[in-house]
Amino acid sequence: MHQPVMLEAVVELLQVQKSGCYVDGTLGSGGHAEAVLSRLGPDGRLLGIDRDADALARCRQRLAPFGERFVALHGNYRDIARLVQQAGFSCVDGVLLDFGVSSEQLDTPERGFSFRAAGPLDMRMDQREALTAAEIVNTWSESCLADIFFRYGEEPGARRAARAILNRRASGPIEDTQDLASVLEGALGRRHGTAGGRRHPATRCFQALRMVVNDELSGIDEGLSGALDVLRPGGRMAVISFHSLEDRKVKQFLRLHGGRDVALPEGGSRWEGALPRVRLLPRKAVQATAAECAGNPRSRSARLRGAERI
Ligand SMILES: C[S@@+](CC[C@H](N)C(=O)[O-])C[C@H]1O[C@@H](n2cnc3c(N)ncnc32)[C@H](O)[C@@H]1O
Repeated sequence: MHQPVMLEAVVELLQVQKSGCYVDGTLGSGGHAEAVLSRLGPDGRLLGIDRDADALARCRQRLAPFGERFVALHGNYRDIARLVQQAGFSCVDGVLLDFGVSSEQLDTPERGFSFRAAGPLDMRMDQREALTAAEIVNTWSESCLADIFFRYGEEPGARRAARAILNRRASGPIEDTQDLASVLEGALGRRHGTAGGRRHPATRCFQALRMVVNDELSGIDEGLSGALDVLRPGGRMAVISFHSLEDRKVKQFLRLHGGRDVALPEGGSRWEGALPRVRLLPRKAVQATAAECAGNPRSRSARLRGAERI
């Protein structure tokens, strides 16, 4: 199991109070949740949410020693306000969102997130949902495929990748993750990047498919608004993103709510920005230390941003 991304910085940012109520909207394997729970007294509570039933089952086991302090709910963080109510919390002192895919999801070939081993083209975090990567890859048009590879994977060879998939489909459906990876490798060429950080050519297209299957970007806007709504004044949110599209959404959201007081000619000032207001913590994103990157490769591209509700 990898160490949780930027654990120290997250804990410091949340300033966990012994009797506080916290929400981890992306439980994953429960590393961040465990760190928060271990700082709570008997009256403190942590609600853990994940849309992946397997993650939830693992966390229920791992975090069982915390007894009633830990409450787990299967759901999407875009519904955070409803889930907080369902858990019986009246207000929340801190929210953590750690976007993206977990190492368990990547390391389980049957879930279909990775091209390192053959697995079904699935990629659903919530297996109750209908849309799978297989449906997208084997039924969507060439222009739709090119569009998602470009928009969500920022893949410069998006058109070539889409064309290769359509050519391959002419002789039968693409069967599994390795089948797809080899089609993409044929279209996009060998591994690229510097020697240490060489990426498989299929990396960006796999990311794009995962984001579409799980409708990840639109969930972020709703999750951030919901998180701010449930926080009490003085409560804090910590958000970890892994690529520029996610981080841009977080930055825009925080900038809007972090608005500014504009001085009026007649005296006094007027607030410009969305309500409720937040104070950014710190003003710039925090990145992982070299030691953290060595302990968990996901940390390399992670950005932590935080805010306090005013
Ligand atoms: C990067 S991992 C979280 C790792 C976690 N912080 C830890 O310490 O292990 C992301 C997790 O969030 C879940 N997830 C992603 N999007 C979600 C959403 N919209 N609602 C709820 N859970 C989500 C994924 O299923 C995955 O388990």
